Amino acid sequence: MLLQIAISVGFLLACGLVLAGLLLLAEKKILNYGTCHIDINAGRKGLDVDGGSSLLSSLAQQDIFIPSACGGRGSCAYCKLKVNAGGGMIGPVEEPYLSADERKDNVRLACQVKVRKDLAVEIPEELFSVRRFRARLAHKRPLTHDIVELRLELLEPDAISFEAGQYVQLESPEYKGHDSVMRAYSISSVPSDTHAVELIVRLVPDGICTTWVFEHLKEGDPVALSGPYGFFHLADTQAPIICIAGGSGMAPIWSIVRDMKEKGVARPTTYFFGALTQRDLFFMDEFKKLEQDCPWFHFVPALSKEPEDSGWTGERGLITEVVSRHFPDASKHEAYLCGSPGMIDASIKTLVQNGMPEANVFYDKFS
Ligand SMILES: Cc1cc2nc3c(=O)[nH]c(=O)nc-3n(C[C@H](O)[C@H](O)[C@H](O)COP(=O)(O)OP(=O)(O)OC[C@H]3O[C@@H](n4cnc5c(N)ncnc54)[C@H](O)[C@@H]3O)c2cc1C
Ligand code: FES
Repeated sequence: MLLQIAISVGFLLACGLVLAGLLLLAEKKILNYGTCHIDINAGRKGLDVDGGSSLLSSLAQQDIFIPSACGGRGSCAYCKLKVNAGGGMIGPVEEPYLSADERKDNVRLACQVKVRKDLAVEIPEELFSVRRFRARLAHKRPLTHDIVELRLELLEPDAISFEAGQYVQLESPEYKGHDSVMRAYSISSVPSDTHAVELIVRLVPDGICTTWVFEHLKEGDPVALSGPYGFFHLADTQAPIICIAGGSGMAPIWSIVRDMKEKGVARPTTYFFGALTQRDLFFMDEFKKLEQDCPWFHFVPALSKEPEDSGWTGERGLITEVVSRHFPDASKHEAYLCGSPGMIDASIKTLVQNGMPEANVFYDKFS
């Protein structure tokens, strides 16, 4: 009986998949939308594109790059744009990401809007400075068992201008049956290092881009990326700072604190770095040196799963517990958080409980 149910469910699923595939093929091959005009910012720019693709990829083909951290899967909501005409109905993938106010304002996910007729869209001015770069992997070095550092030497254009904390989107090429995808990686190098970008990448099991980085990408290989993107950067205030990061969330904070040193911004800063065990720690010598050079900077690594008898004398426990021990009153501080959504949500809750106004918390979720 169970076997029969399983076979029936499997059969129905297979039929659904075949139908969806046929519909996609029909849309691509049979339906011809011809050339469609995209009006950008009420006449600032006009593009004529072949209809049938998503708004996101149609703009990218014309060198206008919209943030798309999930690579167009409809799961990051980074690609929101105002589509004032021609966007059609809001689709089911978009529904959960659009508030009532955004719907009223014609906000849409650019990766989910198909170009089927002429469109009128609004694109924030700062996105016109995003560039696509051809680069070469100059250096790849392991930092831990599942984290590598990449140094990408920029070839064309050969320089980038960005703010510490921003990110780029790396394009993995097609490999072993996987399509080319784009993924977001925070820049870990400093803005003064204009001819290269450095990234800190953690391996995600079965992840398309990170498997390519770890298993296929070799020094000397060509790499394509676009950027800079994002609004995560140091606010222009004098407030003392609490940074919290875990794993590859190190990347933007490593850029921000070294940029502060270079620019002589001596705001009191405590950086809590959460890891499981000692084998997940990296840059320990570099941070010791930074503490010696910068009396305003303090680094606090904290381990949540380190064996009791390991000899580790530093902080132990969840990063939120460690932060609370150091800052039971965080009401005068600003916070910069980077890493997994779970870690960030828990940290925001703790900081707010400890008196920090939510408006003083800045973060980039690596979702
Ligand atoms: C602003 C920002 C900055 C970031 N900065 C960094 C950084 O500095 N360093 C860093 O390491 N990461 C960073 N990330 C995360 C990074 O962008 C990628 O999400 C991450 O590297 C995984 O990419 P991937 O292609 O390897 O994995 P994916 O292929 O996206 O897969 C991720 C996981 O989801 C599962 N999965 C894939 N597709 C599906 C599906 N359709 N349904 C269900 N599950 C699925 C996979 O099995 C895997 O477990 C950042 C993210 C953002 C948003
Ligand atoms: S690109 Fe991620 S939701 Fe559109």
